[in-house]
Amino acid sequence: MKKMLTKKRTSFRPSRAAKPAASKSAKADARLLDAQKFLLPTYKRPEILFTHGRGCYVYDSTGKKYLDFLGGIAVNALGHAHPRIIKTIRREAGRGIHLSNLFHNSFQGPLARKLAEWSGLDRVFFSNSGTEAIDGALKLARLCGHTPSENLNAAPRKHRFLALENSFHGRTFGALSVTSTEKYRLPFSPVIPGAEFVRFNDVADLESKFDDTVCAILLETIQGEGGIHPVSETFWNRARALATQHGALLIADEIQCGLGRTGRYFAYQKFSSKPDVVVIAKPLAAGIPLGAILASEAVASRISPGLHGTTFGGGPLACSTALAALQTIEDEKLLANIRARGEELRAGLTKLAAQFSFIREIRGEGLMIGVELSIEGGPLVTEALHRGLLINCTHDFTLRFLPPFIVTRVQVRDFLRLLEIVFASAPKSIPAQAVSAASR
Ligand SMILES: Cc1ncc(COP(=O)(O)O)c(C=O)c1O
Repeated sequence: MKKMLTKKRTSFRPSRAAKPAASKSAKADARLLDAQKFLLPTYKRPEILFTHGRGCYVYDSTGKKYLDFLGGIAVNALGHAHPRIIKTIRREAGRGIHLSNLFHNSFQGPLARKLAEWSGLDRVFFSNSGTEAIDGALKLARLCGHTPSENLNAAPRKHRFLALENSFHGRTFGALSVTSTEKYRLPFSPVIPGAEFVRFNDVADLESKFDDTVCAILLETIQGEGGIHPVSETFWNRARALATQHGALLIADEIQCGLGRTGRYFAYQKFSSKPDVVVIAKPLAAGIPLGAILASEAVASRISPGLHGTTFGGGPLACSTALAALQTIEDEKLLANIRARGEELRAGLTKLAAQFSFIREIRGEGLMIGVELSIEGGPLVTEALHRGLLINCTHDFTLRFLPPFIVTRVQVRDFLRLLEIVFASAPKSIPAQAVSAASR
């Protein structure tokens, strides 16, 4: 089967299909040795050194080519080395990389306007990363939790955060406190008090935990790291209604699913109501670090100079690049491409599901797709890497695909062909233990 498949003609040919001699020579690379010796061991990385990318492909130090269906975990929406992004970065690097937030720069205002137009919200604060934007949003929620009669310097009665089980909001203490996955949170406890987790899409549980002491409910409109789980319309509507009823904020974390990935500017735009706050980051500045908090006027009116700030956030280089990135999404009509390629991807995956019984479920929208397996995904990710395909596995059993928005029909076809080869390499018998764990 494997042999037959590899014989098929494909327009994308990984430079080395077999388990490579390539990685052997990368192993001896002094840069990898330095990384092993001097970096904090926070990541378990394969012994590959990526050197550059172009469009939907990346290349390693041995010249091997990979089809990138991970996109820097949803960052490289415009792929690699997009000409317009290169041009903007070159231009602005020569004009001024940094200018203090004590002053205006040419790009923050126009970028904030564009984000307001896309989101339907009113005001923007720029940060450097997703987690930092989440922390800022939590601060906003605590601020809004104060009634006019309460002392701003004391804890408000309305101070609790509700978040969802299986959530991931980031690694700084605020974001970690509302991240349910215990392996990320518990080793650093005690985290910030006042956070509680609601069972995913469980309206009754939400209702039982919501009262006047809640200052915000936080949700990823589509959970990313948790395995591509979309919040249901019923749950969203109830969260919106309860937040309004109790004077709490509905905060949508669209760091992974926002800015076009679903084929809409924001994933929540399939619902009939808006959140009070939206948090974005990842693809915003096409790979230059930039995050943002978008807020309604009512929320924004509670903040005043000195209550929040950042040295680097919203600098001219990042904001000009973000403006170019958003303009490119509009000009190249990428939302339509995302929807069309997303449908092809799902159709192809559905066919593979008929062929490989270990595929349990296909979830997601647009170019944010998760495939839940009844076998561990890690070995398949490794096999894909050997075959010249970049994908990722989250929560052990869900393969996650987050290709660039510019992905073409041919690249989707090549991806499905490579994935079929990878799936064909999977063990035929499924360990019972894996099946029960996968159905958590
Ligand atoms: C939904 C979500 N929220 C928050 C974060 C944290 O963002 P960052 O890594 O930029 O701090 C991530 C990162 O993966 C994410 O996917």
